[in-house]
Amino acid sequence: MSSIVLKRTNQKMPVVGFGLWKVTKSTCAETVYNAIKAGYRLLDGAGDYGNEKEAGEGVRRAIKAGLVKREDLFITSKLWNTFHSKKYVKDIAKMQLDLWGIDYFDLFLIHFPIALEYVDPAHRYPPEWWQDDQKTVILEKTPMQETWTSMEELVDQSIAKNIGISNCSGSIITDIYRYARIEPQVLQVEIHPYLTQEPLLALAKTLGMAVTAYSSFGPQSYYELGMAKGVTKLFERDVIAKAAGKVGKTPAQVLLRWAVQQGLAVVPKSNSLERLEENLQCEDFGLSKEDMDAISGLNIGLRLNNPADIDPRMAIFA
Ligand SMILES: NC(=O)c1ccc[n+]([C@@H]2O[C@H](COP(=O)([O-])OP(=O)(O)OC[C@H]3O[C@@H](n4cnc5c(N)ncnc54)[C@H](OP(=O)(O)O)[C@@H]3O)[C@@H](O)[C@H]2O)c1
Repeated sequence: MSSIVLKRTNQKMPVVGFGLWKVTKSTCAETVYNAIKAGYRLLDGAGDYGNEKEAGEGVRRAIKAGLVKREDLFITSKLWNTFHSKKYVKDIAKMQLDLWGIDYFDLFLIHFPIALEYVDPAHRYPPEWWQDDQKTVILEKTPMQETWTSMEELVDQSIAKNIGISNCSGSIITDIYRYARIEPQVLQVEIHPYLTQEPLLALAKTLGMAVTAYSSFGPQSYYELGMAKGVTKLFERDVIAKAAGKVGKTPAQVLLRWAVQQGLAVVPKSNSLERLEENLQCEDFGLSKEDMDAISGLNIGLRLNNPADIDPRMAIFA
């Protein structure tokens, strides 16, 4: 599998990883073990996904079975919004390492450029967006600079080898570069044919920041949450089906290839062994320029994962 060389550390980040959001907790250890057995080397987790302990169990099983060594894996996790203050970044990152049962993250990302009021993990973990009433969102006044400086300390203390950001757009990215001692090495954002984000990709390229595209299948992951915003499945669009027919691949493989062919990393998620194996096979073929352009032509600027849908004070993409 190919990889992207990260700036500063020259560490290789696999182009295709396994996404852990909504990987069922009760079967997560087995799914992660199967993903590693199938060939995945990057696991994309987050405190918010609520399955770090189980994912870590899967990793341990795979190491014990001799499938991989820890250093063969690239483990990513993310800092949740309630831990942005410098008082909490290190403690929560260490707690997350303990949950995984590992002693460093290959990559640690700020999940959203949004600071929420602290929630003691002993009270509720993962804390999610809301208070206990599942309605109230309480913002906190921690500036991004404070959080980024604390992220840099995670590198100093060997808690994370690489650090980066997620769900950030141009203005906050350029601001981070004004004060960063350690530049963000990875930007993880929503990208699929309904949200192609060319200007953001051009910015990341000039900065030498690797980009991971999430939700590569567009609305697919959002139907079960009632968040698909009424759009047609990408899998059912003629343009995708035609391109898939030409190369003898599935629509899912074409969607992943469309991202990978642009130089992006992807982290598809599946609870099914068959589909997670299918998703790995997106590097052994190419799409014609005509098909790449036709797929990009589906862009309608549709953002499925937008915190403004929860509360307008979190309109980070406005
Ligand atoms: N940084 C962030 O804020 C953020 C936000 C969202 C996601 N992410 C990361 O990106 C990862 C991927 O994004 P995502 O989970 O939103 O969705 P995704 O990978 O785009 O799509 C997952 C959905 O597609 C289905 N699926 C998977 N493979 C398939 C295939 N080959 N054919 C047909 N259907 C298939 C899955 O169902 P089954 O499970 O039943 O196969 C699931 O419903 C996440 O797991 C997470 O790691 C990050």
